[in-house]
Amino acid sequence: MSEIILALDFSTREQALHFARQVKQEISWVKVGLELFAGTGPAILEELKKLDFNIFLDLKFFDIPNTVKGAVKNILNSGMVDMFTIHLLGGQQMVKEAVSIKNSLCPKAILLGVTVLTSLEQKDLFLEKPLSNLVLALAEKALEWGVDGIVSSPLELEIIRNFYSQLITVTPGIRLKNDAPDDQKRTLTPYEATKKGANFLVIGRSITTSPQPLQTINHIKKQIQKGVHQ
Ligand code: C5P
Repeated sequence: MSEIILALDFSTREQALHFARQVKQEISWVKVGLELFAGTGPAILEELKKLDFNIFLDLKFFDIPNTVKGAVKNILNSGMVDMFTIHLLGGQQMVKEAVSIKNSLCPKAILLGVTVLTSLEQKDLFLEKPLSNLVLALAEKALEWGVDGIVSSPLELEIIRNFYSQLITVTPGIRLKNDAPDDQKRTLTPYEATKKGANFLVIGRSITTSPQPLQTINHIKKQIQKGVHQ
């Protein structure tokens, strides 16, 4: 069954903590992404940990191997991070350095590889072959290089589940039946994503813009548990 990760896409510490406190009783994972991290710095991680959340730090590291190794070391040394992301397109050496430092400092932390961002299409990358070929090739390498899981779009989810079932799958782009898609292009309902085998669902605006966030979370949980759409 899928677990919800709440994307705390706010700019300030106050907004993020206010919202996190409101939903604490129903949510155990929160995602801190670039917007919040750039607005607050690492102090937000400690404050969220004090509220007993598991933390997914989604900074999508992509740089030369030595720099990524240093960045992974620093986020894990904080002791606050339970799951984090790097780009698989950073290549074998970069990924292997990240895996190795993670395994020596904090083997329990989940290292996720980003294959190709869901905002990109085949033509954006000047690819001659379908984008899914690249996604699949990167997923295969992710497993070989020791990555724990993959952040995947609904489309990638099915391919990865079929071929590389050992990888943990984390899927954004989740929308309830009557939600606006916003900037997400390919969306799934919580029920559909669970059925396709997602281990974690990253959900932001469906919950953060809801007039009754707790009610919405319970509604999503029911969909996940009972396999219903509405
Ligand atoms: O508000 P919404 O539910 O669309 O939020 C989705 C979250 O997942 C955002 O924090 C976004 O940055 C993240 N994400 C995504 N697509 C990806 C990777 C991450 O939407 N490919």
